Formats: sequence, structure tokens, C-alpha cells
Amino acid sequence: MATLAELAASRTALGEPAVDHLLRLTASWSLLADLSFSDMVLMTPVADDAAGAYVVLGQIRPNNRSTMLNEDLVGSVHVASEWPFVARALAQGERVVVDTRLGFVDEPVLVWAIPVRFADRVIAVLVRLQGPLRGPSSLYEQAYLSIFVRLCDMVGEATFPFREEEVAGPGMPRVGDGIILLQGDGRVEFATPNATNALHRLGIYSAVEGHTLAELGHRVRAIERALAFALPTMEEVDRGHDVAILFHCVPLVARDRVTGVVVLLRDVSDLRQLNRVVLHKEAAVREVHHRVKNNLQTISSLLRLQARRSDEIETRTALLEAERRVRSIAVVHEVLSREPGEDVVFDEIVRSLVLLVEDTVLALHPVEIVVNGDLGVLPTDVATPLAVALAELLTNAVEHAFTQFATHHQHVGVVTLNLYRRGAEAVAEIRDNGRGLGEDFSLEVPTSLGLSIVRDLIRAQLHGTIEMSTVPYAAGGGTFVRVVIPLPSRR
Ligand SMILES: Nc1ncnc2c1ncn2[C@@H]1O[C@H](COP(=O)(O)OP(=O)(O)OP(=O)(O)O)[C@@H](O)[C@H]1O
Ligand SMILES: [Mg+2]
Repeated sequence: MATLAELAASRTALGEPAVDHLLRLTASWSLLADLSFSDMVLMTPVADDAAGAYVVLGQIRPNNRSTMLNEDLVGSVHVASEWPFVARALAQGERVVVDTRLGFVDEPVLVWAIPVRFADRVIAVLVRLQGPLRGPSSLYEQAYLSIFVRLCDMVGEATFPFREEEVAGPGMPRVGDGIILLQGDGRVEFATPNATNALHRLGIYSAVEGHTLAELGHRVRAIERALAFALPTMEEVDRGHDVAILFHCVPLVARDRVTGVVVLLRDVSDLRQLNRVVLHKEAAVREVHHRVKNNLQTISSLLRLQARRSDEIETRTALLEAERRVRSIAVVHEVLSREPGEDVVFDEIVRSLVLLVEDTVLALHPVEIVVNGDLGVLPTDVATPLAVALAELLTNAVEHAFTQFATHHQHVGVVTLNLYRRGAEAVAEIRDNGRGLGEDFSLEVPTSLGLSIVRDLIRAQLHGTIEMSTVPYAAGGGTFVRVVIPLPSRR
């Protein structure tokens, strides 16, 4: 489909400044279509056509009414004799209003032919097509129409569209969002129900008619500027952090005097909140992790404190174990709080975990922990449970494999953690050269807390598998654990 600029260049004699003027007009004419509840087309004479013909440069449908034009007329050429009112508007430079029938509309239509003036010439005609009226129009429909008429006069006086700015580009308030009409002195002439709601949100509850917004406690500079300079302006008016209303002010000008301002209101509170969230999401995520980490550290020190106070050795051990668990989760959060994205470098977590395990249990038995390989970058929802599970398994190895009863061979305890990727799976193997698992050991029987946690994390949360076995004495002895986790496919 040809653009307005292309059509103007190929079919009309309009110069570039005139075409720019029409482009600005069509950039803001959804305001006109909505205020008049009408379809509109923009027509201009075809160049070098002796018989006289008009080409349609643009077409717009109202947002608040159903359209009368199912066809797309842009680019179509019409014989001038079929559109006498357009000819009259072009020739006389005056608005022409007629009841008529048009070939492509079933019903009789009320047509307004509005001259579009630019540089003292009528360069095009804005045609408003209105269907038969449905019942009496409401008060605010009449008010819309009165604004529309004033804007049409401005189109005829070449003061609308405005020279610099778009009045109603995308994202601009729509007529339905709420309108306040101000008089030339800034007093409110009327406000639509939606506008009244928006004013309530700003804390203005009293009747506004007859007052300026400044009198009601909201001095809106955009309104003052629109009144003073006859230029369209925009401003976001806030109430606290939660409410933001966008004021879009369109001055109404007649014979070089500002006679009023149309204020289109749009509640952008939600949008702004969303924006704020998006802007600060990264920082927020980091902050949350940071807090979680701090809270975990607080819990961990409370547990340690309680452990120290308890006299019973069992209670004490249990509390210290709980404390260690909390700390291994804190380790993960430490890493998460530094990584901004959705993925974490798992290697960093592993290093911290090893330090943690060494810290907590190695004081009892001298054991060496060796890490081979790494898993690269993992999504956080995999990294967190996996890290907690590995912390448990490493702790078990240093805690249980090398008890006095078992170390009948006089070697150094070694715990090896092998990490690698196998296709779309992450594999972690923990091997120790200790006493191995007892005869009656079973991973399936939920006895102790540690392995129950591991099972739950690996199977239920990560949909992975875990196997544990005793390595035959001939093969070096000890315990072997293998964890396999399927990784989500990369988006
Ligand atoms: N690497 C290992 N070598 C020898 N025995 C092990 C090993 N890992 C686990 N076990 C045995 O399995 C048992 C269950 O382990 P689990 O982690 O569930 O409990 P726990 O370590 O005794 O207590 P906690 O709930 O504090 O972890 C251990 O008590 C231990 O007997
Ligand atoms: Mg354990």
C-alpha cells in the first residue's frame, strides 16, 4: 500500500512543505475522528487531470464507533463531479455540510467537507462521513462535537495540525480516556466521567466546573504553557508514588487567540509502575538475594547460639547440622546476589561449597576434597537445589566415610567431586575412599534427614536420578554417588 508521501508525489502537484503539513495532520487526526465519532478521509485534486478527479491520501476510523467504511479507500481516485461538496470546499475555502448518498455506503450519510489550509491555500479537503444519528446524543457527546468544530476551524485557519509536535501519536491519550475542556482563562468548562475519575485519583474530589486546576491544588505547568504559547504540551502529574496521570494539552486557537485547551487525560500509574519494575528489576533481584542471604546468616547464627546453650549433645549436634544446612543455602545466595542474570556460573558455587564443608567438618577428620571439571553456566532454578544436594553429599562423605572404626587402612581420606556435562545432562559424581555404605543401607528408606532432602531435591525438584553404591574393596573401596540432572533446553 502506498504511503501518503508516495501518493502525494505520484498523483498530486503538492510541494514538500504541503505534504509535510498533511503528514502532521494525519499523525494527529485520530483525535478528530474520535471527537466526531466519524470516519474521515483526506482528499486532494489529482494533478493534470482536466476532467477533475480527487485522490484519497488517507483514511481513519473512529475508535469509539463502528466504521461506515468497510473498504480501504486510500489511493483510490474519484471523479470530481461525484463529490461536488469537496469541489465547493476547495473553491470557497469554507466548510460544506450536506446530507447525501455515496456509492460505497449503503446508508444516507451526513458529509462535512472541511478545507485544509496551508500557506494561504486550500491544499486538501478533510471529509467527515457520519451515519444516521442514533437517538439524542449525550451531553458529553455534544461537548466532543463542539471541540471537533473548533478544531475544524483551526484546520481551515492552518493552525491545526501544530507545526512542531504530533498531537496524537501512538501512546498518546485517547479521547475515551478522559477529556477536560478548559476555557481561555484556564477554568474548567466540562470534564467527562473518565476525566473526573482521573481527577479523583489525583485527590481532586470537589466539582471542577468553573475552577482552574491550580485553585483546586494542582498547578499543571503544561496547561499554563499551552494557554500562554498556543502549543501542544504534555506532563505527568503525580500523587505520591502510586498515581500518575498523563495530561496532554491541545490548545484551541481562533484568530490567533487561545480560546481554550483540550486536556486529554490518561492514567499511566500501572505503566509507570511497570516501567519502574523493569528498570530496576536487575537491582531488585540482586537486592532480594542479598536480603535472603543476610536473613539466612541471621538464622544460622541464631542456631549456633542455641546449639552452644544446649547441654544435651544430641540437641546440640542437630542444631549445628541445621546451622550448616542454612549456611550452604546462604552460600548459593551469595553467588546469586552477584550474578545479575538468570544463569549462574556453577563453578563459583562449588568452590564456596567446598570451602564451607571443609570449614565445618574437616576440623574433625583430615580429608582432602578434590574437584574435577565443572558444569559451566546453569539456570538458577537448577543451580540452587543442586548446590544444596551436593553440600549434603559432600558433608556425608567427610562425616561418615572416615570414622575411626572404618579406617582400618591407614590412608588419607580423599573425597573427589567430578562434574561434567553429558549431552543435555549435568552429571555430578562424589566418590570417597572410606568405609563404604553399610549392609542394610538403602537410599529408598527414608530414615535420616540429609538423604531425604537430597532425594527430594534431585528427583522431585530437578527430575534427575541419584544412585549410591559401595565400591568393592578391590576397586579402592569407599562410596560412589552419581547424580544426573536433565537440563532445560536453551531458549
Ligand atoms: N559417604 C558415605 N560413607 C559412608 N556412609 C554414608 C555415606 N553417606 C551416607 N552414609 C550413611 O547414610 C546415612 C544417612 O545419611 P544422611 O545424610 O541421610 O544422614 P546423616 O548424615 O546421618 O544425618 P543428617 O540428617 O544430619 O545428614 C548416614 O548416617 C551414614 O550412615
Ligand atoms: Mg548427612
